[in-house]
Amino acid sequence: MSETPLVDAWRNARSANRKPMQVPGHKMRYLDAADGWAHDLVGDTVRDDIPLQGGVDDNAYSNRYLQRAEELWATAVGADHSRFLVGGSSQGNIAALATVGDEGVPIAIDRTSHRSTQAGLVLIGARPIWIYPQLHPEFHLPIGMSAGSLEAMAKQVNGFFVTSPSYIGTLSDVAALARVANARKEPLIIDQAWGAHLDFIPGAGAMAQGADFSVTSVHKALLGYSQTAVVSMRDGLIPRSTLDRWVDHTTTTSPSGTLLASIDGTRAAMERDGLGRLQLLIEAVADARRRLARVRGLVVLDDNTAGCPVDPTKLTIILPKTGADGVVLGEELWQLGHGPESADHDTLIFTVSVADEPEWVVGFADLLANLIEAHRGEPRTSSPLSVWRVEPEVVLTPREAFLRGRRRVTMAEAIGEVSAEQFCPYPPGVPLLAPGERVTEESVEAIRAASLVCRVAYCSDPSLQSMLIVDQ
Ligand SMILES: Cc1ncc(COP(=O)(O)O)c(C=O)c1O
Repeated sequence: MSETPLVDAWRNARSANRKPMQVPGHKMRYLDAADGWAHDLVGDTVRDDIPLQGGVDDNAYSNRYLQRAEELWATAVGADHSRFLVGGSSQGNIAALATVGDEGVPIAIDRTSHRSTQAGLVLIGARPIWIYPQLHPEFHLPIGMSAGSLEAMAKQVNGFFVTSPSYIGTLSDVAALARVANARKEPLIIDQAWGAHLDFIPGAGAMAQGADFSVTSVHKALLGYSQTAVVSMRDGLIPRSTLDRWVDHTTTTSPSGTLLASIDGTRAAMERDGLGRLQLLIEAVADARRRLARVRGLVVLDDNTAGCPVDPTKLTIILPKTGADGVVLGEELWQLGHGPESADHDTLIFTVSVADEPEWVVGFADLLANLIEAHRGEPRTSSPLSVWRVEPEVVLTPREAFLRGRRRVTMAEAIGEVSAEQFCPYPPGVPLLAPGERVTEESVEAIRAASLVCRVAYCSDPSLQSMLIVDQ
């Protein structure tokens, strides 16, 4: 059994029966007790909450448990340096971008990236040069960033940021992207939020393929507590201290030892027998895909149907030719207790992880196949979410737009103006319109259409009647 410094220290803290005279305010009185004031309201919700400082470690962090656990993670994923995060991959993206960028510095960024990249750009004032993944000719879904897209921008930019796996599970050839970046000696960041498990398949993770930075959510595809993520880097282009500065700048001063220990435990589990577990899962997903592919008209995303490599643990189906409506199926699945990761009219995405029993994954495919049959209808043409096709006219950098004066206008009046805010269908959390981008008839229509299938988040008027534009 490999070393687990944070898990061991967390267990010791849990059994120490301390009566701390310091934070947290709940005093860890609820670890086991079923009594105590307000136990009925908060006891269960904070039962296992032990802080890092003055809990898992002492106030001075003198045992350096976190540092040791981070070293073990870095070694496991082929990085030189890793930092554990309690602000999700959102924090990782912000910290990684801030590490490679600076005021006015051009960075080539995948426009299908998560909204958190915009927060990073606002923070540092870097200038995004948007690059676009290839789109599937029929389904209009992203099928990977080509090395040529990076090559075309290489002379103009000081860094690259690409998301792989994409939200739907398609993979870019990170090794090819890294060759372009490495030849220019410019850093490549891979947002691998959905692919933490790839780091435990030999040669499949972003760091193993030559990226300079990777960001992974431990809570998405692996076993970590919600909010947990890791940002990793290789030495050479940028000092570790720069990443450390930005991680520290963007995080809480009271990190949860429980969250952090769950990252450590996940790494140890994956090193112990994670690959075997992943292989069983991959076989189960392959079986599930085969069963679903028998449903007439259903397209099941795999390397053949996508035309690019697809994360072998991802289950993504494309419905139009079955006539079934993904939003309706998504609601039924939610009622059955099997809510999908994402559902729009055309596409259903399911997150499958090492915590899922392989038999369950196969059984779920049969349940899903029956549900699609029950909702079969007239085949229709695809109407994919427009987030994958946005090609904005950038007028101001995200930071300039964020800091300028703003005023509220109706959506119709906004056409032709510059957006001061973000409109982000969630999921997948990719902005349809972002600060600094020109508002067009198409963008307003895309926002309206998205609101019919999902929550359009992070805008100031949730009724979508008005928006904030830059007051030029
Ligand atoms: C591609 C991508 N990157 C980053 C994030 C942010 O991850 P987290 O929720 O861990 O902050 C998400 C969240 O959905 C995402 O889809």
